[in-house]
Amino acid sequence: EQKRQLQADVVVVGAGPAGLMAARTLTKAGERVVVLEARDRVGGRTWSDTVDGAWLEIGGQWISPDQTELLGLVEDLGKETYQRYREGRSVFVAGDGTRTVYEGADFPVSPGTLAEVERLTGILDGLAAELGPEEPWAHPKARELDTISFHHWLRAQSADEDACELIGMFIAGAMLTKPAHAFSALQAVLMAASAGSFSNLLDEDFILDRRVVGGMQSVSEAMAAELGDAVVLNAPVRTLAWGADGVRAEADGVIVTAHRAILAVPPTLYSRISYEPPLPRRQHQLHQHLSMGLVIKVHAVYERPFWRDEDLSGTCFGVGQIVQEVYDNTNYGDERGTLVGFVSDEYADAMFALTAEERKAAILGSIAHYLGPEALNAEVYYESDWGSEEWTRGAYAASFDLGGLSRYGAEQRTPVGPIHFACSDIASEGYQHVDGALRMGRRAAEEILAARV
Ligand code: FDA
Repeated sequence: EQKRQLQADVVVVGAGPAGLMAARTLTKAGERVVVLEARDRVGGRTWSDTVDGAWLEIGGQWISPDQTELLGLVEDLGKETYQRYREGRSVFVAGDGTRTVYEGADFPVSPGTLAEVERLTGILDGLAAELGPEEPWAHPKARELDTISFHHWLRAQSADEDACELIGMFIAGAMLTKPAHAFSALQAVLMAASAGSFSNLLDEDFILDRRVVGGMQSVSEAMAAELGDAVVLNAPVRTLAWGADGVRAEADGVIVTAHRAILAVPPTLYSRISYEPPLPRRQHQLHQHLSMGLVIKVHAVYERPFWRDEDLSGTCFGVGQIVQEVYDNTNYGDERGTLVGFVSDEYADAMFALTAEERKAAILGSIAHYLGPEALNAEVYYESDWGSEEWTRGAYAASFDLGGLSRYGAEQRTPVGPIHFACSDIASEGYQHVDGALRMGRRAAEEILAARV
């Protein structure tokens, strides 16, 4: 069968936030762009769908106040945002299962542990400020921090196991969605620096501040609507030929010839594409040192937000619990109440080893431990399972193994001939977030525009 042949100045691979932002920036500057997307929809890891009558944000959704690239785009597109519900008290479950209802920002732990949490936070804030998000690998301390796991680095700083567990959780389970022994202290510092500070990661009112009315995917849909026919769906790129005279991207059903390409897919998926000639040795190596985290985003929808009756915000944290974080995720203008919970890394492995029924019982049971037995009566229950998605393969994003960031970080954004790279997973500010994806999309587009004569 004959494939459709298209010509462009730039071919963008992937219609997630990064690819669409790249295409938007290039199109505004007068470049002809074609975006090839593997799925039958745009938005990548941002996706809204109606499940058993409940509208859910299955992927990325929250915006923090420092994510100005995303906030600016949301405004440009004429979209509104709304704050996450946060009135009332929070719930904390300690490692021994003790449940405490508390107010304010301080965790209800012993004064000694609280002081250690504050001291460790200060150390991490200092390192995040010193190394910065842009090129932490270039700092003199980079190699030392990159050759020790975050787990062991924390134990080298403090003898308070509870404090180490608690601090570890906010980067391991909550952000990189890998166990703290699986990534380096440098990778943890990058995560903190990319969000402004480690303190910001501890502050759910900052990091999980606002949502987009209509859902985060609608941001990508609005960008795609402006691009019109330039976005081609159901077109996974299989082969990318490249050389001095340009690129040729061969996808299912369509071939695009262009001067340059932007790979706007997670780095863990680069090797799904065959390159002619192969990518250089350095890229082959670099790409093998990144892997996706794993987290189950659990959605539980109730007749009403019952927790609010007891002056609970729905915000819950737990150490060593199946569900490590819970938040009120009630939709804008919705009468029903929605909770969202996160089951991360090895807890997700354990849950996926169960049958679907056992898993639901265990997960809702864990939420009920925080918020009471009414949590068991969800009208709609859904698990976002990005690990099973062929064109994502994990969540939230990719990070380096021990030593990888200092060894390869400097090259992850460097173009190879006419091939440029853009994705949240290689971002500095907004790393692993939609904001970082947009920044990388704009950056790749600007690299190409700067090279134009
Ligand atoms: P993304 O993965 O979104 O897009 C890449 C696109 O490339 C996809 O559409 C894919 O189909 C396509 N593709 C892949 N291979 C291809 C090929 N060979 N040919 C053609 N197309 C191909 N962020 C945030 O800011 N706030 C939040 O609250 C959250 N929460 C969150 C929850 C969950 C469950 C997930 C999974 C993720 C988040 N995130 C988040 C992260 C956020 O969703 C993510 O950082 C961005 O969507 C990344 O955008 P990119 O465009 O970089 O990649």
